[in-house]
Amino acid sequence: MKKIRTKRTITQKLLGGGMKALKLLPHVQKKINEEYGNILEELEKMAKPYNKNLPLVKSIPEQGWEKREIIDLMEGLNRREENRWKEGYVSGAVYHGGEEHLNFLNGIYALNSQSNPLHSDLWPSTIKYESEIVAMTAEMFHANDIKNDNPVFGGRVCGNVTSGGTESILLAMKTYRDWGRKERGIKKPEMVVPVTAHAAFEKAGQYFNIKVVKIPVDKDYKADTEKAKSAITRNTVVLVGSAPGFPHGIIDPLPELSEIALKRKIGFHVDACLGGFILPWAEKLGYSVPVFDFRLPGVTSISADTHKYGYAAKGSSVILYRGEALRRYQYFKTTEWPGGLYFSPTFAGSRPGGLSAVCWASLVSMGKKGYTEATDKILKTAGIIKEGIKSISELFIFGDPLWVIAFGSANLDIYRILDYMNEKKWSLNGLHYPEAVHICVTLRHTLPGVPERFIADLKDAVKHVRGNPRDKGKMAPIYGMAAGLPDRSMIAELMDQYMDLLYSF
Ligand SMILES: Cc1ncc(COP(=O)(O)O)c(C=O)c1O
Repeated sequence: MKKIRTKRTITQKLLGGGMKALKLLPHVQKKINEEYGNILEELEKMAKPYNKNLPLVKSIPEQGWEKREIIDLMEGLNRREENRWKEGYVSGAVYHGGEEHLNFLNGIYALNSQSNPLHSDLWPSTIKYESEIVAMTAEMFHANDIKNDNPVFGGRVCGNVTSGGTESILLAMKTYRDWGRKERGIKKPEMVVPVTAHAAFEKAGQYFNIKVVKIPVDKDYKADTEKAKSAITRNTVVLVGSAPGFPHGIIDPLPELSEIALKRKIGFHVDACLGGFILPWAEKLGYSVPVFDFRLPGVTSISADTHKYGYAAKGSSVILYRGEALRRYQYFKTTEWPGGLYFSPTFAGSRPGGLSAVCWASLVSMGKKGYTEATDKILKTAGIIKEGIKSISELFIFGDPLWVIAFGSANLDIYRILDYMNEKKWSLNGLHYPEAVHICVTLRHTLPGVPERFIADLKDAVKHVRGNPRDKGKMAPIYGMAAGLPDRSMIAELMDQYMDLLYSF
């Protein structure tokens, strides 16, 4: 690891300071390959810490293991892994994590572990849960208050339960592609997406052959509406805005984007995966929240993750559409298969009905009161954290976020600060373009003393980095290199190798 150089040594020393050079000389390429080897070695140690002290199971055992043995092993691993998130050291990831809530949800899953919404005849209970999850989410987004005011996409708000934010987004983008093809004869579809929108939109572009036209954000990290206007062409099927975006927690200018989409008669997707179950309650609590939901006449679909601030178990989200006609473009059905008439509303065939039962139970057990109280705690905690960051002169906050707080530094290496925080047990998110770190505040951070501990550790981190300018840090060079190398295909190759490594045996 010691051999890994910082971004500056790799790009400036190896390329002779030529950041613009894209074609690398063979000896430079060789050197970088060596560096990659070192990086991968380090990443492997982190991703596979059990390889050293646990037996590797590479074939199904002849004789099944004792159940007690299996449980003991898993309890041991769980104990090792849970204390970081339980004690509030982790950004995002576990959004509730309270013991009583988790035990309740686990019991609900146990009751429903065999159910599968693909077999509605066997488990009509799952169908009830899923349609009610959609109804509750739609109501939260004012679906019942809207007039039929979108001439192209109007109708009745409807939707589906999916496996997560990415699936909700993929489904929506496929829907707009197919809508554009059928209704507008668009053969080369395009989506207009702020650079800060989630990577899932780019994934959708790759999977479904939709050109992703990226628009910049302004100085407040909000989508640039003028650029959005000029990016729309005759091939555009959908415009995207986030409520808020993952990187800086900033809500795009959704009312303006809604107007643009309405005028151009294209879809407008609001990605509320992260904020869907915070913003409605934040608004009620009096925080300054722009209208972000179906009250905006241009909003034609919304993704909202129940497995984040809906406090359900991982594996559930909701995709909503303004009208049923649009949702039809999402559905799959075939009438010719020898296996019988087959249809499925989302990507998967069989699905875990247990997770939908858990999601339904989370929504009805929390209630509007529970969600409002949880949001109140989260936003108050985020307020303490924001004030704390502002009190550190070397740091600044990106834009004016509510609870996903990204910060950077004008004079210190922010990735070294991230490194130091990591050594202090924190798991924060490293961002790039521009270089930054964020903390996504959850209920875990609302435990007594957690925000104060975060600020104290952050102050220590800044002091340490300021006082040790020669210290390279552990992961900072990797982040720095990833952010700074001009040839992105090499970074992409590294990511491929890392994914190979995760599934290596
Ligand atoms: C704004 C936003 N959209 C989409 C997603 C994707 O959600 P998932 O990881 O559940 O697929 C995330 C995840 O953090 C997000 O923050």
